[in-house]
Amino acid sequence: MQSEIEKRLAAAPIVPLIGSDSPAEAVETAKALQAGGLTVIEVVLRSDAAQACMEAILAETDGLIVGAGTVLTIDQAKSVLDAGAQFIVCPGLVDEIVTHCFAEGVPVYPGTMTAGEVQRAYALGLRAVKFFPASLAGGVPMLKALGSVFGEMRFMPTGGVSAQNLGEFLGLPSVIACGGSWLTPKDAVAAGDYSQVTQLAREAVAIAQAAR
Ligand code: 3PG
Repeated sequence: MQSEIEKRLAAAPIVPLIGSDSPAEAVETAKALQAGGLTVIEVVLRSDAAQACMEAILAETDGLIVGAGTVLTIDQAKSVLDAGAQFIVCPGLVDEIVTHCFAEGVPVYPGTMTAGEVQRAYALGLRAVKFFPASLAGGVPMLKALGSVFGEMRFMPTGGVSAQNLGEFLGLPSVIACGGSWLTPKDAVAAGDYSQVTQLAREAVAIAQAAR
C-alpha cells in the first residue's frame, strides 16, 4: 500500500527545501509553496532556528507533509520526530537513524551516491533513498546505471537539481521525486517576494507533469 507521502509525491514529485532562520518567514514560504501545488516540504536543519521553523510550519499550516532534512545525528532525528517531523532526510546513510525511523514508522530517505551505499540501504530494508549530491554524483547517467541493478530501489535526486534539469531526472522511472532549494531562493524570501516562490513551484509542477 502506498504511504501518504508516496501518494503526494506521485501527484507532484518535488520536495522543496526550506532553510530559514525565521519561523514566520518559513511559514510564509511553506504557504507559498503550497499555493504553487507542492505539499511535501523539507525543512533543513542548518540553523539554530531550523527546528522552530519546522514546528511553526506544522502548527500554522494545513494539508502539508513536513519533514526534516540535513539530519546528521540520532539525537537530531529523535528531537525532530518528537517535534512532529513526518519524514527524515539525511545527506548520508547512518544505520542507527534508519532503524530508529523504521521503529517509529516514519519514512526516512538517507543520502547515497555509490552502488555500495545503495546496496547497504537495500540490505537495511530501504526501498527509496536520496541520491546526493545528484549532479556531482553522476546525474541522470549514474541513476540509470544504479536503477538497472537495483530494480526495486527508488531515488530522490537532490543537490544541483533545478528547473533546467528537473524534467530529465523525473523522466527516469526509478525517480520517486526530486528535492531542492531552487524553489525557495534566499533573496526572494528575504525580500518577502513569496509570489516568486509560488511561481517557481507552479513551474516545477508543470515540468513534472510534462515529464511523467
Ligand atoms: C540538500 O540538502 O539536499 C542539498 O543541499 C540541496 O541541494 P541544492 O541546494 O542544490 O538544491
